[in-house]
Amino acid sequence: MSTADFTVLHPEKGDYHFKDYQQEREQFSWKQADEGFSWKQTGKVNMAHECIDRHVAEGHGNKIAFHYINGDEEAFFTYKEVKEKTDHYASILKHHGVKKGDFVFVFLPKHPDCYFAILSVVKLGAIAGPLFEAFMEEAVKDRISDCGGKYLITDEDLVKRVPKNDLPSLQKIFITSGKAGSDEVQLQDELHSIQADPFVTEWVDLDHGLNIHYTSGSTGKPKGIIHAHRAMGQQYLTGHWVLDLKEDDVYWCTAHPGWVTGTVYGIFAPMLNRATIVINGGRFHARSWYSAIEKAGVTVWYSAPTAYRMLMGEGKEAVNEFDLSSLRHLLSVGEPLNPEVIYWGQSVLGKRIHDTWWMTETGAQLIVNLPSQIIKPGSMGKPLPGIEAAVLDDHGNELPRGEIGHLAIKAGWPALMKEVWKNKEKYSSYFPFQGWYLSGDLAVQDDDGYVFFQGRSDDMINSSGERIGPFEVESKLIEHPAVAEAGVIGKPDPLRGEVVKAFIVLRNGYVADEQLLDDIKKFVKTKLAAHAAPREIEILEELPKTKISGKILRRELKAHELRKSAAG
Ligand code: PRX
Repeated sequence: MSTADFTVLHPEKGDYHFKDYQQEREQFSWKQADEGFSWKQTGKVNMAHECIDRHVAEGHGNKIAFHYINGDEEAFFTYKEVKEKTDHYASILKHHGVKKGDFVFVFLPKHPDCYFAILSVVKLGAIAGPLFEAFMEEAVKDRISDCGGKYLITDEDLVKRVPKNDLPSLQKIFITSGKAGSDEVQLQDELHSIQADPFVTEWVDLDHGLNIHYTSGSTGKPKGIIHAHRAMGQQYLTGHWVLDLKEDDVYWCTAHPGWVTGTVYGIFAPMLNRATIVINGGRFHARSWYSAIEKAGVTVWYSAPTAYRMLMGEGKEAVNEFDLSSLRHLLSVGEPLNPEVIYWGQSVLGKRIHDTWWMTETGAQLIVNLPSQIIKPGSMGKPLPGIEAAVLDDHGNELPRGEIGHLAIKAGWPALMKEVWKNKEKYSSYFPFQGWYLSGDLAVQDDDGYVFFQGRSDDMINSSGERIGPFEVESKLIEHPAVAEAGVIGKPDPLRGEVVKAFIVLRNGYVADEQLLDDIKKFVKTKLAAHAAPREIEILEELPKTKISGKILRRELKAHELRKSAAG
């Protein structure tokens, strides 16, 4: 894609927190991001304290922290109530043995309990592992067993997808709603028998583990990316500058906390900024989303290109049925944001959509479109002050502006992951060239510093903003009795960016008919996760492989697919 094909969009007039790009870049130091935190005075560090208790101590206890909406159901929780609830949950967890450094997984739908649970775990200095609510048994098992998760907070429905017998490390399961089994703890019942300790918070070092998110790569099972409490400075500052959160804002991040966006920009960044957060339960449905905006009076909205494309597909009529005039600032993340979608946002919603770029590993936004700056549709924006981005060649040399190469960031920003769980080699693989973090994305930077995404340099698939490792899907496919071999790629798709396409070789004796293919798709869907299941399966006689090591050549499969699509 050329970098200059599209009309730029100028900022709307407004009193934004972030003013002058050049000036901020020149003056900036990361120290200033930490200035407002109470630990700067007390020396006592804990992310949950800065997100909740500090605001209460400073007299803002009555401010609404959560506005929960699920169809006709609605509930509000003030910052004071969130403090009380998380103190109480944390006290119960502590009573049952949870301590600093333990891995505690949270497998709950988008409901306030999910948020209370994560924040309570953080209060105890334990490491929160939020799991996406659509994960099936295998995905749950892989994650909990990889880091030896000791505790799990879930509910009576989702617990059915937890293969307890295959999880020897798991010591206790807490159930937030519904009946608990005889070997489980019913959290609501415990609220009556165990007292809340208002001083339950454990103080930790800035580099202490905060949360773990499993993320897919092109090889192997998902890897556990651990972030540290030190991420808070950057998460606060990006909430202040990029989300531009102000006292009266009502903020909605549509991602589930099982994904890094849902934790960092669904919980930490907005709470560090003392925002009112909308928690919208249920699945995507255009009208219910518009209705949530209207009902809550959402002013700042962070979503993903696939969601925006789906809304666009519903047409203007759906928009016109609702009063969306509260919206003042729109953002997007996770996959390429098409210029058409930005123009749609401008003409139909009357707002620019601000693309942002970051990754699970980076812990916070790095390349962004700021509300006071020009947007070049097709670009992810410019590096934040404090962030140095470059486009490198295969040997780590910086390429001139305008040339395509590997998107790299000068290492050392505060939110950068602390470690890849028990995988030093994987961690080092992000830093092949002295001082640079290599993202795995390909990009071009123009003369003004705007960065344009050009694809991945590996085989990873990005479907609806969800990162899917081909290896994981291939491994599941070959567990199906009919599948001898499998190769998986991302096939370009106008709505989802990419969809998972599998090429398989059948075992002898199996006949390729619709029913079998459906059965194979369902197998992956129910065992692994719906978003990772192939939408298309093609049968081949054999798969292309490297001569020496016999590895599947996914690039050839992709080329085959693209040739086929081009031929119509
Ligand atoms: O390929 C890039 C894509 O998503 C990857 C990171 O995925 P994940 O760790 O799941 O985090 C997603 C949300 C933080 C990146 O390597 N990606 C992320 N943002 C963008 C993007 N691709 C294009 N444009 C973006 N704005």
